[in-house]
Amino acid sequence: MLLITREILPEVLARAQAEHEVRALNMVGPFDAAKLLAACDGVDAILCNTADKFTAGIINALPPSVKVIATYSVGTEHLDLAAAAARGIKIANTPGVLDRATAEMSLLLLLMAARRAGEGERLLRAGKWRGIAPTFLLGHDVAGKTLGIYGMGRIGQVLARFARGLDMTIHYHNRTRLPPGLEQGAIYHERAETFLPALDFLSINAPGNPSTTGWLNAARLAQLKPGAIVINTGRGPIVDDEALIAALKSGHVRAAGLDVYNNEPDIHPGYYALENAVLIPHLGSATIETRTAMGHLALDGIKAALSPP
Ligand code: DGY
Repeated sequence: MLLITREILPEVLARAQAEHEVRALNMVGPFDAAKLLAACDGVDAILCNTADKFTAGIINALPPSVKVIATYSVGTEHLDLAAAAARGIKIANTPGVLDRATAEMSLLLLLMAARRAGEGERLLRAGKWRGIAPTFLLGHDVAGKTLGIYGMGRIGQVLARFARGLDMTIHYHNRTRLPPGLEQGAIYHERAETFLPALDFLSINAPGNPSTTGWLNAARLAQLKPGAIVINTGRGPIVDDEALIAALKSGHVRAAGLDVYNNEPDIHPGYYALENAVLIPHLGSATIETRTAMGHLALDGIKAALSPP
């Protein structure tokens, strides 16, 4: 029996139903742990997503029949991996298939923030556009500018490729330097202290985990060039919201483009009033093609976990 917490695409659901008896919870909004636990009888696999917080308490309350939890995401920080391992529950996720879609989102945010697209659209929809003028709503070119990628993994590398096509110079900050074939001429910084002052744009493409939490704090924001633009499609907790909002208000950070937030979907209310923040509701991997591929990969993971060794 496969328990599915959220609505999934018809093609993926059809495959799930061909391979398993399916119990679909179709949760909308906050994760309902009581509903999940009440539906777990006879379940051997669970398909969830990043909104579903599987704490140690919830994992320990699952019946012994549960062998695998698959998540419709590459990120696994919503799952208590240690508790799952202690229970012998396998974890499956969906790395690789969402790199391009997420890098596209980083690029979209970068361009929207640089060209003030959100402000322009809001102004036009409010009926306030008075016509084109030489100084009206000027943004900044991206060509010839430096883009710094914090977290040069698979998604960061696709973004670097896109940005090279826009004639940007790529810098990156990772724990380890990439081999030249993957680096493709990007400039490696071992230390944030040399990385941040070199940037016109900072794109966060790192995973959420204890070592990245709070990385972009007030001290690091202060090391950015005045007028730099910050993009985040990695994870919300990497950014200190109070510090970023203060930097956006002062103009030290010219603009931000955000797809991920602390405490989604109840984001810091300070962002709402900021004209220089482009705010997207965690849509990085939200294309039909990518979500279909993620669904198939999650089902592959479930199949592998339930197959005899
Ligand atoms: C992921 O895969 O972790 C994304 O953030 C969810 O689409």
